[in-house]
Amino acid sequence: MKTTAILLAAGQGTRMKSDLPKVLHPLAGKPMIWHTMEAIKQSATEKPIVVVGYGADEVINYLGESAQTVLQAEQLGTGHAVMQAESALKGKTDLVIVAMSDMPLMRSETWARLVETQKNNAGAVSMLTVIADDPRGFGRVIRNADGAVESIVEEYVATSEQLQVKELNVGGYCFNAEWLWDALRRIQKNPHKGEYYLTDAIELAARDGLPVQAVVMNDAEETIGINTRAHLAEAEAVMRRRINLQFMLDGVTMIDPASVYIEIGATIGRDTVIMPNTFIHGKTEIGEGAVIGPNSIIRDSKIGNRCKVLSSVMESAVMEDDADVGPFARLRKGAHLGKHVHMGNFGEVKDSYLAEGVKMGHFSYIGNAQIGANTNIGAGTITCNYDGKKKHATEIGANVFLGSDTMLVAPVKLGDGARTGAGSVVTKDVAADTLAVGMPARAVKRSK
Ligand code: UD1
Ligand code: CA
Repeated sequence: MKTTAILLAAGQGTRMKSDLPKVLHPLAGKPMIWHTMEAIKQSATEKPIVVVGYGADEVINYLGESAQTVLQAEQLGTGHAVMQAESALKGKTDLVIVAMSDMPLMRSETWARLVETQKNNAGAVSMLTVIADDPRGFGRVIRNADGAVESIVEEYVATSEQLQVKELNVGGYCFNAEWLWDALRRIQKNPHKGEYYLTDAIELAARDGLPVQAVVMNDAEETIGINTRAHLAEAEAVMRRRINLQFMLDGVTMIDPASVYIEIGATIGRDTVIMPNTFIHGKTEIGEGAVIGPNSIIRDSKIGNRCKVLSSVMESAVMEDDADVGPFARLRKGAHLGKHVHMGNFGEVKDSYLAEGVKMGHFSYIGNAQIGANTNIGAGTITCNYDGKKKHATEIGANVFLGSDTMLVAPVKLGDGARTGAGSVVTKDVAADTLAVGMPARAVKRSK
């Protein structure tokens, strides 16, 4: 059966008090709408349709090829929003899933259950409901004496008796497409708000004598909708718990998962320990048996097996197996540490390759450099790679010994086995196995 999802994302999300459209606010590093699309993916057979309105350009730009978009120029309600997708979909799909884009915690299993239910339903629609003590402003599900769903009543018009109802409308539906297009035309403008409510389609189906199936959810957490930044933080915490739990089940140790922040897209190998207060962002790959943190921030980086990252910051960098950094190291874009490289405190590496076994213990800056195996970088060594206009390269061979505070004025090359004296300023190439020494300080007798 052809099944297409329509995601409603035209609302402004006024209560977010934001310039960014609500559905683009990130959760675990991905926009809210990404989570909804991801969860629905397996239940649909066609590309989703996203109804955009507020901030349409930004949303369309984000979605790219991942969805088709239709514009709802004026936000005249959830029913009106679905109507905007009719011309794109009529005759092209058997079932239509409708989802709110501000419910990023919904699981793919739930959408699958909803679609399965509708496939076996002779009626026009199946819907998701949840039994919860906290109504969070959701519409109430009204059932008749036989227990069949009759209608949805929005909170602000509900009678005191209806307000007691604990079954809530989650805002996820699966419709028979042909029936839906016709029903949308029959929805009347709501007298209170002047909007066309999709929820009225439930009542229409019941009145048509078509049974409405409710899929009752048991996990209220999953139905958290985002209307404010407080809700966003609440959802972020749930998402984080889910992500961390999965990693732990897959063999990653976390001393305190509540203080570990891992975004969607990261992979971590078995027996790696993630220490508290660690942030792993973007597309980061971490190998097995590594120790990451405490107090580290890693983005879009690759970390090999048995590496250690202590109180350090890494971005778009690579560490091969058994390398270790920190405390207080900074690996910037293009930093590549080979196997067994040791980088201690207060070092910074950018656009450079440090071959296997390089030691860089303290206070150095290495930029636009290639460094051969087992070279020792003395404390305070700096590649002076920038002349105010351009960046220049430094090439250092293997087994080189750089004395403390060596200034390497690039472009410059040092051959294998070269040495520099402490405090030397190297402005010319140094041949292999050659010593370059700076000007030693002279002793001058102090006058009294
Ligand atoms: C809606 C339901 C309510 C349900 C709740 C669950 C209606 C009338 N009510 O209420 O029963 O409990 O969801 O979350 O449907 N949107 C558009 N265009 C519009 C209006 C809304 O695209 O013209 C989008 C919004 O961007 C949002 C979603 O639809 O993603 C829900 O709209 P919202 O106004 O938040 O509906 P609720 O009041 O939450
Ligand atoms: Ca809402």
